[in-house]
Amino acid sequence: MSQHSRFALVTGTNRGIGLEVARQLAQSEFEVIMTSRDQAAGEAATARLRAEGCTVHHHSLELTDSDAVQALIETISEHFGGVDVLVNSAGVFLDSSGPTETHGSSVFDLTSATLDRTLAVNLYGPLKLCQGLVPLMRQRGYGRIVNVSSGMGQLNDMAGGFAAYRISKTALNALTRIVAAETVDSSILVNAVCPGWVKTDMGGPHATRSTEEAAEGIVWAATLPDDGPTGGFFRDGQSIPW
Ligand SMILES: NC(=O)c1ccc[n+]([C@@H]2O[C@H](COP(=O)([O-])OP(=O)(O)OC[C@H]3O[C@@H](n4cnc5c(N)ncnc54)[C@H](OP(=O)(O)O)[C@@H]3O)[C@@H](O)[C@H]2O)c1
Repeated sequence: MSQHSRFALVTGTNRGIGLEVARQLAQSEFEVIMTSRDQAAGEAATARLRAEGCTVHHHSLELTDSDAVQALIETISEHFGGVDVLVNSAGVFLDSSGPTETHGSSVFDLTSATLDRTLAVNLYGPLKLCQGLVPLMRQRGYGRIVNVSSGMGQLNDMAGGFAAYRISKTALNALTRIVAAETVDSSILVNAVCPGWVKTDMGGPHATRSTEEAAEGIVWAATLPDDGPTGGFFRDGQSIPW
C-alpha cells in the first residue's frame, strides 16, 4: 500500500500551523493523514501538498464529535495499522477581546458555553485521540505525541484575561504529563510544544513568527530519537517552565 514506513496524524491541517506541520512531516519520512472539519477546505490543502510531492491523505474530523473521532481511529487502525506520530494542533481561541488591553476578556465575564466549547476542542479532542491511538502505538512499539500548547497555559507566567484559552492549554499540559507518565514503560514519547506567537488566523498579522518557524519545533518533538525526553514542555526544542 505504501512506500513509506511511517505514518503521522496531524489535526487542523486545512490552515495555519497544522498545515505547515503536515508539510514538513511529509517532506521528511512520513505519510501524513491530514484532518479538517471542512471537507472541501481539507481536500484543497491535501491537494496542495500532493502537488508539492507529498504523500498525504485527507480525513474529515470534527473534534467535538466523538463518533467522528472514533471513526477516524477505526480507519487508521484498519488502513494504516496505527500511527507513529500524533500531532494535536487543531485548536480554538474563543475568548473575545474585552474592555481592557491588558486582560482582554475578563474571567468574570467568562461563560460556561465558551469554556465548554474551548475545552471540547483544545482538551477533549486530544484526550480522545490519545485514548484511541496510544494502544495502537503500543502495538507498534513506537510513538511520538505532540500537544500543541501555548505559553498562555504556563502556570509559571499566568496572567489575567482569555481565561478559557489559558485554562484549556494548562489542562492540555496536564494531559501531556499524565499520558507521558502512563506510557513511560513504552517507546512512546509525549510532549507539549509552544509554537510561539505565529502569523495565522489565530495569531493575527502582527505575530512575530512564521508558520515554518513554528512548525520546526513541533516536528522536532514529533521526531525525537528513542532516548529523547517525555513529559516535557518545549519551545524551539528548548525546555520551558510549566
Ligand atoms: N497562532 C499562534 O500564535 C499560536 C500560539 C500558541 C499556540 N497556538 C496553538 O497552535 C495550534 C494551531 O493554531 P493556529 O494558529 O494554526 O490556528 P488557526 O490558524 O486558527 O487554525 C486552527 C485549526 O484548528 C481547526 N479546528 C478548530 N476547531 C476545530 C474543531 N472543532 N474540530 C476540528 N478542527 C478544528 C481549524 O479548522 P477550521 O478551519 O475548520 O476552523 C484549523 O484547521 C492551536 O492549538 C493553537 O492554540 C497558536
